[in-house]
Amino acid sequence: MSTGQPVLTLVQGDITLQSADAIVNAANSSLLGGGGVDGAIHRRGGPAILEECRALRASLARAGNPLGRGLPTGQAVATTAGRLDAQWVIHTVGPVHSTTDDRSPLLASCYRESLRVADELGARTVAFPAISTGAYRWPVDDAARIAVTTVRATETAVEEIRFVLFDGRAYEVFATHLGG
Ligand code: APR
Repeated sequence: MSTGQPVLTLVQGDITLQSADAIVNAANSSLLGGGGVDGAIHRRGGPAILEECRALRASLARAGNPLGRGLPTGQAVATTAGRLDAQWVIHTVGPVHSTTDDRSPLLASCYRESLRVADELGARTVAFPAISTGAYRWPVDDAARIAVTTVRATETAVEEIRFVLFDGRAYEVFATHLGG
């Protein structure tokens, strides 16, 4: 029985090797893959994931999505996890870091919306990468602060939220924010 508060855990490694109900992808709005986490998830997860992403794109376009196509920044959608050791991949689009405008609410939304989708699915364990801290150049320390603050403030039935960090530095930074 969930105590109501998810356990927050940290792992250093490749998120595509994690076993979890849902693995979160740091996607882009096209949902058609990319590098980093996105590339790794599609590579190891296989074509079934991309097939479902294409179908989602089509439904987003039909739904009169203001952008006409693609997933808006800060939103999240789920697909199969294909060959990954998970039931679902939750694709979310992080903001590109900007020095002129504060996009923190959009980064927070990635975590909040991914947990909302996880709750809709009934996922109890969710693995997150450090969204936006790679190609989207968000400073890791600020991204960790936003990630930890947001998940701690979000009502969810998820029982374990696992941050999976690729390198030691990101791991240490997240550990500092978790300890805080
Ligand atoms: N497992 C866990 N973390 C990873 C992995 C992996 N296999 N590969 C990369 N990372 C880390 C990066 O080191 C970084 O800290 O995930 C974090 C996010 O980096 P990106 O994957 O580059 O994601 P992001 O910064 O959100 O940029 C998204 O990059 O790959 C494209 O299609 C994607 O256009 C989108 C953009």
